[in-house]
Amino acid sequence: MKIRNNALAGIALAATAVLGLAACGSGSAAPAGSSAAAGGSAAGEITVYNAQHESLTKEWVDAFTAETGIKVTLRQGDDTEMSNQIIQEGQASPADVFLTENSPAMAQVENAGLFADVDKATVDQVPAEFRPSTNKWTGIAARSTVLVYDKNKISADKLPKSMLDLANPEWKGKWAASPSGADFQAIVSALLELKGEAATQAWLKGMKENSKAYKGNSTAMKAVNAGEVDAALIYHYYYYGDQAKTGENSKNVTPFYFKNQDPGAFVSISGGGVLKSSKNAAAAQSFLKFITGKKGQEVLQKGTSFEYAVASDVPSNDKLVPLKELQAPTVDPAKLNSAKVTELMTQAGLL
Ligand SMILES: [Fe+2]
Repeated sequence: MKIRNNALAGIALAATAVLGLAACGSGSAAPAGSSAAAGGSAAGEITVYNAQHESLTKEWVDAFTAETGIKVTLRQGDDTEMSNQIIQEGQASPADVFLTENSPAMAQVENAGLFADVDKATVDQVPAEFRPSTNKWTGIAARSTVLVYDKNKISADKLPKSMLDLANPEWKGKWAASPSGADFQAIVSALLELKGEAATQAWLKGMKENSKAYKGNSTAMKAVNAGEVDAALIYHYYYYGDQAKTGENSKNVTPFYFKNQDPGAFVSISGGGVLKSSKNAAAAQSFLKFITGKKGQEVLQKGTSFEYAVASDVPSNDKLVPLKELQAPTVDPAKLNSAKVTELMTQAGLL
């Protein structure tokens, strides 16, 4: 999920610092490197097109620059905005590295033939379930689909067995989502891959009938908390991030995990890749190796992102339901199709 406002980039950056998880990054960030003496073997400077939450990537960049002396310039946008930009720029792209919140935008750049192979040392520290079969990019973090709901409105025995149930008439007017965001569209891309086009079309039709649209996952969760709507289909870290702060936007909210390999148990992989056109390939590869390495993954374990760690045997934050207990469906992230999802959601009147 991204809330963007280029004209107010400076203000939005300040707001990001205050709101943390409540607002994803916005506008273009200032160069995040320091002038520390180069200490690594891949000295230089890289530009990262960043669609991950800006606060998380800044933590990675600061640690990486402190260790290697390599300066990193961040350009901030949302998943498909940045993937489209990379494709449009082609060989002339100033991007050395692309980081996303979700896999479909990575698959799009991969399909355009613009990624270099990920270095073997990096691939070796990421388990196969958290990277595409092609190794043209790698998982860097993960997030789980979750239904957050108001216990006072929905008793445990009335919770849906499957995310697909949310298209049934009994759920009319009872749930919310942020259909315009890359996070939600990744969930739809998994549904498409798991159940096919006809089932996805039918579910989206039911969603249009039944759901309320909000802009942003935090906004949808706040609506549940405020009693505007009974439940919202979002990612888990919005809940845990709020709980770790004041909890004021989630005190009336309980997370429910679908499990059973349901499409609603989809775990979305955030991706990182090095552009084939990079003039600083060694430094770019070392950045990817760093964020999937022990120190990079510990940023996920100990920081405030509440996203799952996926590599280098680093455990996730112990406040989270362990990944292994989520019973996520198996989806090859290289097969997720953002263009088809946009088409189907537009047809359904959701975009
Ligand atoms: Fe997000």
